[in-house]
Amino acid sequence: MKTTFGIIGAGNIGKTVAAHLLKAGHSVILSNSRDPESLSGTIAELGAGAKAGTSKEAAEADIVLLALPWSQLSTLSNLTDWTNRIVIDATNHFITYAPEFRLADLGGRASSEVVADFVPGAKVVKAFNTLYFKILEKDPAEANGRRVIFISGNEPAAKQSVSDAIQSTGFAVVDLGDLATASKLQEPKGALATLNLIKN
Ligand SMILES: NC(=O)c1ccc[n+]([C@@H]2O[C@H](COP(=O)([O-])OP(=O)(O)OC[C@H]3O[C@@H](n4cnc5c(N)ncnc54)[C@H](OP(=O)(O)O)[C@@H]3O)[C@@H](O)[C@H]2O)c1
Repeated sequence: MKTTFGIIGAGNIGKTVAAHLLKAGHSVILSNSRDPESLSGTIAELGAGAKAGTSKEAAEADIVLLALPWSQLSTLSNLTDWTNRIVIDATNHFITYAPEFRLADLGGRASSEVVADFVPGAKVVKAFNTLYFKILEKDPAEANGRRVIFISGNEPAAKQSVSDAIQSTGFAVVDLGDLATASKLQEPKGALATLNLIKN
């Protein structure tokens, strides 16, 4: 099914996932922290099916992808009524980047559980957070197989929708389980972080 994805954060990850979705025939609304005009170059680069919008417009698309810095999560809460929206969480809980790469102290919670607090009522599915964008941007068909995207989440129907969309772009999906435990495998320092796996 052709779907419109609202992408909040139009940097490395937002643009990379957008390109795969567009290639599969989906539409994307990209947003950043500024006026949509600031994305005119990015939209021209991405081509047909891409448009710029406000974060609110992106938040109201069929499926929403969070691709913004961890420090900016609090800006999500008042964008829309998040109840029952499908939200893909591609964030990682870094509070500083190179060279320290410090992680937020989440008190033992999974990062996507914390994210879910900022989008109350949404069906959160963690995906697209384990691979460096330079790997993620490559053709998912490799070595006679398909590159794996790990997902985890608590609602089977939301996971199915996200899984269908990801598979439509040519990736293989491996469903790990729930947010509280399984999604931790996807986090930085988790067993599956940066694992570039090909499924035959
Ligand atoms: N880079 C990777 O390889 C990678 C891999 C996996 C996961 N991740 C995770 O993905 C997320 C994004 O990383 P990135 O590397 O794509 O970052 P990035 O290149 O720095 O891009 C961040 C984007 O988020 C936008 N943004 C910032 N604050 C915002 C707000 N309040 N509302 C809407 N948009 C906002 C920025 O827009 P402005 O230009 O207007 O500030 C920019 O477009 C992070 O959580 C990161 O940990 C990154």
